[in-house]
Amino acid sequence: MNPVFRRRIINRHSDSLKRYGYHPNALYWSNADIQALRFKVLAEIGVESGQSVLDVGCGFADLCGWFSAQSCEVSYTGIDISPDLIEVARQRHPDVKLFVGELFDGRFLAREFDWVLLSGALNEPYHDQGKYAKKVIREMYRISRLGVAYNLLNSDVVRAPDLQSFSPSASLSYAQEQFGDASLRTDYLDNDFTIYLYKKS
Ligand SMILES: C[S@@+](CC[C@H](N)C(=O)[O-])C[C@H]1O[C@@H](n2cnc3c(N)ncnc32)[C@H](O)[C@@H]1O
Repeated sequence: MNPVFRRRIINRHSDSLKRYGYHPNALYWSNADIQALRFKVLAEIGVESGQSVLDVGCGFADLCGWFSAQSCEVSYTGIDISPDLIEVARQRHPDVKLFVGELFDGRFLAREFDWVLLSGALNEPYHDQGKYAKKVIREMYRISRLGVAYNLLNSDVVRAPDLQSFSPSASLSYAQEQFGDASLRTDYLDNDFTIYLYKKS
């Protein structure tokens, strides 16, 4: 990733953490219910107890706590570009594997995780017509065994210079062309949608 963008994302979260502490606002979510709703939709791809999950852009690793609260005991790994957020995540979840970096820094193996999930980590603008986002999605697919679920902001609703958003229908077309078995969820929030990619195990 362009080092200027990397620094910008790290600094933004360092500032928000100083301002809000451990709170969804530090992740640029409006509240915990909206954050949890996104988790629920991601998990509905079919995550089950006993499976492994990589959470890309994990923030505080709240998804790990969310799975536990659902009594869904997954083997959780998180990666996030912000060292400050990962430090808090490590304090809150000392027993899980957490890495600092972007996805490519993890050097994960092909099919290393049953599911690779991402919530909100592609909302930062890169001004590259979605090129970096597509690269991340392809890598998520490579390292998953069963599939991938990610959410994106809906460009029909969200058009802000400091956010990256995408057309749901164009994103589905891309996913189907690139990966074959893909589906779209638009039934949970106006400004957000989720793509599921299924892989043959
Ligand atoms: C909106 S927050 C969501 C955090 C977490 N997924 C959640 O829902 O609680 C987006 C997160 O993605 C991380 N992030 C943004 N761009 C990233 C990238 N290219 N690679 C890894 N993490 C990234 C940010 O540091 C931030 O923690």
